[in-house]
Amino acid sequence: MNVSAERSKAIWGAPEINAPALTGSVSAEVAVIGSGVAGLSVAYELARTGMDVVVIDRGPIASGMSARTTAHLSAYTDDGFAELIRMRGLDAARLWRQSQADAIDRIEAIADALNANCDFRRLDGLLFLAPETDPKVIDSELVASAQVGMLAVKQQGAPFARHQSTPCLRFPNQATFHPLKYLTALAAAIRHAGGRLFANSPVVSVAEKDGSIQLVTGDGAHVTAAHAVVATNAPINDRLAVHAKQAPYRTYAAAYEIARDSLPDALYWDTLDPYHYVRLQPGDAQNDILIVGGEDHKTGECNNGDQRIRNLARWTRDMIPGVGTEITRWSGQILEPLDYVAFIGRNPGDEHIYIATGDSGQGMTHGAVAGLLIADLIQEKANPWTALYDPARKPIRAMGEFLRENATAAKNFAEYLTPGEISSADKLASGEGAILRRGMGKVALYRRMDGSLCERSAICTHLGCHIHWNSFEKCWDCPCHGSQFSPEGEPLNGPAATALAKTDS
Ligand SMILES: Cc1cc2nc3c(=O)[nH]c(=O)nc-3n(C[C@H](O)[C@H](O)[C@H](O)COP(=O)(O)OP(=O)(O)OC[C@H]3O[C@@H](n4cnc5c(N)ncnc54)[C@H](O)[C@@H]3O)c2cc1C
Ligand code: FES
Repeated sequence: MNVSAERSKAIWGAPEINAPALTGSVSAEVAVIGSGVAGLSVAYELARTGMDVVVIDRGPIASGMSARTTAHLSAYTDDGFAELIRMRGLDAARLWRQSQADAIDRIEAIADALNANCDFRRLDGLLFLAPETDPKVIDSELVASAQVGMLAVKQQGAPFARHQSTPCLRFPNQATFHPLKYLTALAAAIRHAGGRLFANSPVVSVAEKDGSIQLVTGDGAHVTAAHAVVATNAPINDRLAVHAKQAPYRTYAAAYEIARDSLPDALYWDTLDPYHYVRLQPGDAQNDILIVGGEDHKTGECNNGDQRIRNLARWTRDMIPGVGTEITRWSGQILEPLDYVAFIGRNPGDEHIYIATGDSGQGMTHGAVAGLLIADLIQEKANPWTALYDPARKPIRAMGEFLRENATAAKNFAEYLTPGEISSADKLASGEGAILRRGMGKVALYRRMDGSLCERSAICTHLGCHIHWNSFEKCWDCPCHGSQFSPEGEPLNGPAATALAKTDS
């Protein structure tokens, strides 16, 4: 059960890329684990050069966060350029902006070359001042954008109710597309170039020994490869080195009918933190689809998804009073790197294992960056972005963020001593989950719709934090590094690769 993956299909459709499960022993030059935008981009860039590539996914192909995205393609950073310059310095911020612009160009070129028919289009991005924020932020972003080489035009007025004189920055030549149509075209091209795709094959271990990589799946299939790319969104091979430098956040999205031409086709973001993000998707003859996102919170720290969707709806109807009925609502997880730049490259401590993570709210362009950068690293070609995205870097200027975000783990470990959320399983309604103390430990209880109980250990199989129930998503979330488990304890999202332990009851 993956609630939001089902709900986002109302907008993007189901990923229809059939692939067999992996069985027996397979060898390849490169094994890519994960078939989202990062994994498929890397696989595509390598397969087209003639390399022998396999892609292995835990679930259906392209059914992870890339199937839940809202697919803004922008070279503007969602942390703001002033903040990025402060954190990484001007040269790195310039290089980051260039890499993101190049990623959009690459997506456009691939979509063209593959005839992907994926609604790719260039449009403006509009950053508009939220009433609650200091107006100076628009001017400081105007200056910072110029410093990093991003064209920005200051204007008065955004096309929303009561925003006729709101200060805004317009960024020309950003883009958007239909993510699953694009990924379907990538998958077909990988196959056409001889690549092999395997679905429903969870990888449980990735190890490098004597210059060769060994992967094992939950069903005992093996892959031997010269290189492995762990593109599982949150890397399943990393214990802490990278996970301590990023933090998992849940973000919410909803889609509404909107009469055609009632809002200019653009990407919109406000200056709040967390910010709202808005775009259009072509709909039927009369209507388009308005996709609105925001209301982010740290994973596992709130269990009020429906309230957050109501907040989004209120905000949307206040800004765009003519908006029609809600089509669907969903949520997903993003990983916020503490120094605002994703981790893409050689996994710390390994020679031939690469990762792509820390996507922030910009995982689509980061996926394309991963395609270009990791393909170059594997082919031993120089790439100007290697140091910028290096997963081994130390986020020295992000020490405050490091301490704040990693306090979650310390706080979570205190839960070993606290009472459970319910005193007895009788208190649990069908379709809900909660934590119960049993003796020295805690158990995660889920009451199935038929009334029977599923009981698992409440301890995350990554590094031992306590999981929390998520009623909106019907899953268990781990606040420490973002692992998610189904109600029955199966891993849905890394870094955990194995199921919650069964209890003795
Ligand atoms: C609501 C929402 C809105 C967003 N909006 C935007 C936006 O506007 N613009 C933007 O650029 N980004 C946006 N993002 C972020 C972006 O969608 C993601 O960062 C991006 O899709 C991540 O791609 P990925 O390939 O890293 O991960 P995924 O797409 O999650 O792919 C990872 C794959 O790895 C597989 N996997 C995991 N574990 C294993 C295992 N053990 N074995 C085998 N396979 C495994 C999963 O099944 C999955 O298919 C948004 C995200 C959300 C949730
Ligand atoms: S995700 Fe790391 S302890 Fe749960």
